[in-house]
Amino acid sequence: MNKAFPETFLWGGATAANQYEGGYAEGGRGLAASDMITAGSYTSSRKIYFTDANGKMDHITLGESLPLGAEPILKEGEYYPSHNATDFYHHYKEDIGLMAEMGFNSYRLAISWTRIFPNGDEEEPNEEGLQFYDDVFDECLKHGIEPIVTILHFDMPVGLAKKYGGWANRKMIDFYLRYSEVLFTRYKSKVKYWITVNEINVLGGFWTLGTYKKDDAKTENKGPILPTKYLPEEAAGKYQALHHLMVACSYANKLAHEMIPDVKIGTMLALSGIYPNTCHPDDVFGAYLFRRRALLFSDVMMRGYYPAYAKSIFDEYDFELKMEDGDEEILKNHPSDYLAFSYYRTTVYDRNSDITTTTGGQQGQANPYLEKTPWGWPIDAKGFRFVLNELYDRYQKPLMCVENGMGNIDTIEDGKIHDDYRIAYLRDHIAAMRDAVTNDGVDLIGYMPWGCIDLVSAGTGEMKKRYGFVYVDLDDAGKGTFNRIKKDSFYWYKSVIASNGSEL
Ligand code: BG6
Repeated sequence: MNKAFPETFLWGGATAANQYEGGYAEGGRGLAASDMITAGSYTSSRKIYFTDANGKMDHITLGESLPLGAEPILKEGEYYPSHNATDFYHHYKEDIGLMAEMGFNSYRLAISWTRIFPNGDEEEPNEEGLQFYDDVFDECLKHGIEPIVTILHFDMPVGLAKKYGGWANRKMIDFYLRYSEVLFTRYKSKVKYWITVNEINVLGGFWTLGTYKKDDAKTENKGPILPTKYLPEEAAGKYQALHHLMVACSYANKLAHEMIPDVKIGTMLALSGIYPNTCHPDDVFGAYLFRRRALLFSDVMMRGYYPAYAKSIFDEYDFELKMEDGDEEILKNHPSDYLAFSYYRTTVYDRNSDITTTTGGQQGQANPYLEKTPWGWPIDAKGFRFVLNELYDRYQKPLMCVENGMGNIDTIEDGKIHDDYRIAYLRDHIAAMRDAVTNDGVDLIGYMPWGCIDLVSAGTGEMKKRYGFVYVDLDDAGKGTFNRIKKDSFYWYKSVIASNGSEL
């Protein structure tokens, strides 16, 4: 049995603009919803301040929708981690150089929408923003690194949210398409791999969808990003908003194929795995049903139509999907070329307990057979092989793992970072991935571990939850020099890539 990855395999790492790029007020960039989120230590401690219709200040937490008439504001004295993030904006040459030194032949990054269209609805794009990504792509190509570009990664122009109410409004399709068309026109000779949207199954609230509540009644604080049960009007709004987004993505698929020779354009989901707690039929079937809440979106984007079971999910909320003329056709005729996904962990579904979806996938009961990261995420390399098989069996289209890794606390000893815990995690996951490819026949085209250079956590806003091969000197309060230090895992991953994954 040949235990090697294909010669064409894409090895790299992944980042997102809102957590890595910084330079939030430079180069003509406009405000994104992520710029309005304070630091925190867990998801529901991150706040978005606003003034209400009477001018009174209040806040929502990450994942919630704003009351009607609210004006999001930056509050003095608060720390907003996206503003500088880990400053790729001023370090891109150094960082891409470090990626090249590790041997990357690919790098997944996201474009910041408001760097291109500061409010989202301008007629003309911001040239300075376009030039920045030209420079970034040139730097990648100079080093033989293929850029894999996410068009939308937890990114919502504040201007569009305020004026149009975000993705609940169909007009967003036009703004997204104008933005995509500008990107395709400008970068068609430099970028072949595109991802229309990051983790479409975990989007929700003002932060990612720009949504406002239907009325200004206070809702309970729901904690993690997407609870199992939504308030009916919020669920309805969310599924309709996500329909608009999927239609927009399908139009972008069409456009990309018309404009860019040899393009590959995929969708992306958080697809960490899920197990039933026991063999009780309600645990087994419950886990299956819960899994469909994520697969619903890849089913639509990969197969081109809503699966029959979608109705039962919508019925739970008395929601009826509004389709317009042409929606079914565009979904059907322009599905994604490949499925990109993140894999961090598995979780356990218990029929008697709640289960939620947050960054990194579903979160449910603890699994007594698995160790956990310091943030409580179960470590499950076999689960990665399971998910790779599950997805390939389901779609028979190429897969790309564009996020994987463990968030951990790194300490510097004599100027070095001995992150053997990270190496152990990645070694086991790459071995499992290799089994899926070489033994099980899964068509996986690339692997890009998350946060290859340290960046801010999406869920908690912390800096100390680090994923990278390269340490960035910055703390949770935004203090630090931004200096880069290679961790032990840097040298280890370099040798993995040099051996095309045969030496772990
Ligand atoms: C994924 C997101 O859900 O998980 C990333 O696409 C995120 O943006 C990653 O950073 C890890 O989650 P967290 O909360 O540890 O940053």
